[in-house]
Amino acid sequence: MPDSADSSNLMEALVSLAKRRGFIYQSSEIYGGLNGFFDYGPLGVELKRNIRDCWWRDMVQRREDVVGIETSIIMHPKVWEASGHVAGFSDPLVDCKVSKQRYRADQLFFAAVVVDGKTAGYVSALESERTAAELQEAAETFKRKKALQGALEPVKVREFTEATEAEIPLVPSPATGEPGSLTAPRAFNMMFQTNVGAMSDASSVAYLRPETAQGMFVDFKNVVDTTRVKLPFGIAQIGKSFRNEITPRNFIFRSREFEQMEMEYFIHEDADWAKAHEEWIMWCENWLKSIGLPESHLSRYAHPKEKLAFYSRGTVDIMFKYPFGVQELWGIAARGNYDLTQHANASGKPQEMFDEATKKKFVPHVIEPAVGTDRIFLAVLTAAYAVEDVKDEKGNVEQRTVLRLSPRIAPVKVAVLPLLKNKEQLTNRARALFEKLKRNYAVQYDDGGAIGKRYRRQDEAGTPWCVTIDFDTIEKPGDTFTLRERDSMTQKRITEAELFQLLAEHVY
Ligand code: GAP
Repeated sequence: MPDSADSSNLMEALVSLAKRRGFIYQSSEIYGGLNGFFDYGPLGVELKRNIRDCWWRDMVQRREDVVGIETSIIMHPKVWEASGHVAGFSDPLVDCKVSKQRYRADQLFFAAVVVDGKTAGYVSALESERTAAELQEAAETFKRKKALQGALEPVKVREFTEATEAEIPLVPSPATGEPGSLTAPRAFNMMFQTNVGAMSDASSVAYLRPETAQGMFVDFKNVVDTTRVKLPFGIAQIGKSFRNEITPRNFIFRSREFEQMEMEYFIHEDADWAKAHEEWIMWCENWLKSIGLPESHLSRYAHPKEKLAFYSRGTVDIMFKYPFGVQELWGIAARGNYDLTQHANASGKPQEMFDEATKKKFVPHVIEPAVGTDRIFLAVLTAAYAVEDVKDEKGNVEQRTVLRLSPRIAPVKVAVLPLLKNKEQLTNRARALFEKLKRNYAVQYDDGGAIGKRYRRQDEAGTPWCVTIDFDTIEKPGDTFTLRERDSMTQKRITEAELFQLLAEHVY
């Protein structure tokens, strides 16, 4: 577990770098922002696009068994009835009647203060790395303030969803510290509603999709009938999803508008689903490593059988060590044939395939790897960020901030730097190289300031390589440049052909 001071410092540093260098801004910032919504700036949009493009290339274009689609954000409202979202896509909401704060009951914890075997009162704390420690400290303070004599028992941490009717009025609100203001948890549906057409009545209600997955189920037959897919095969989609989260938090980790990259992998009803499930978990882990996430930050969490939805055979989450703790990055669920069956029943249109061997029709089962692009974005920033002591040209120690992003996803692949901006021979050669590179790669031309300063600027943006066009380039034979490598800061001479070869090898 990260030390909480270090982790909040790291989070602050990431948020500040993201703003300073134009990765991420708060949405509608000049109006005070809107909680749970974010904008991606010039560097951020490149990084996000690269994450998305790598996923699409590896998941769809480079596989023969996966096809892509793009479905509408607003779908027929019956889709969400059949999928179970209208009835059940909710979080347990608790209100504090005094402070008007709202909490998710599964993120609010409480404990009885038990002194000499008797309950003297209750304490509460919000979910964090230190929930148990905070509750213990609060219990000790409670005992001291009330001048209670006797032995304090270690606190037993409980989720507010488990509070009994008698306990609810006794649990203090985290906002006021006083009991009596928290309501009982009630189901809060997280789908954003809108109206389609000119009339705003019950018949025109529609929803912004809370996941992209239903698009793949609803278009399943279209894809089967219009392409040559054969089981097992997948349908993938990247797109925006919307959830009216009660407590959006941790920057872009949990927001109200976010992007998902989901794939539904359809298998025969008799196929070895556990094997397919494990293969997809491994695929996802390897893919995350291929874009630079270190193995040390990744782990798995298998959902306990008793907590799974009735139709689910197993769900494993790939977890990432974020600055605020180990949290879900990518969920890989074995969902049986629940979704297709629901849509077949609700629409009256069979969602089946024909088995040539048995001459019988059946509803395929599905394995679903579902991940948020923004969560990957935050994970790569977390893993890439470093501040280190380095020596400048004169040997003085200074600090540099560097983003060690994989060249696959780095927003800028190469910065082209003429040593001097007022020497035409240098700038002409630099511009010629820049023009050639930019046909295939995201590159930057930077001629402003001392070369050391320019390197630092690129370090902070995560640019893997800088090439400097210097006097050796124009005066010595071979037309070579200085290639400066971001992570090791080593420099070597390289030709144009070698530079293109380096890029082809690392940017794929
Ligand atoms: N179709 C299945 C599905 O949507 P999910 O676990 O609710 O499953 C999948 O979401 C992934 O989407 C999560 O693992 C996470 O990466 C991302 N995600 C979910 N809610 C999010 C939110 N509020 N903000 C950012 N990403 C979110």
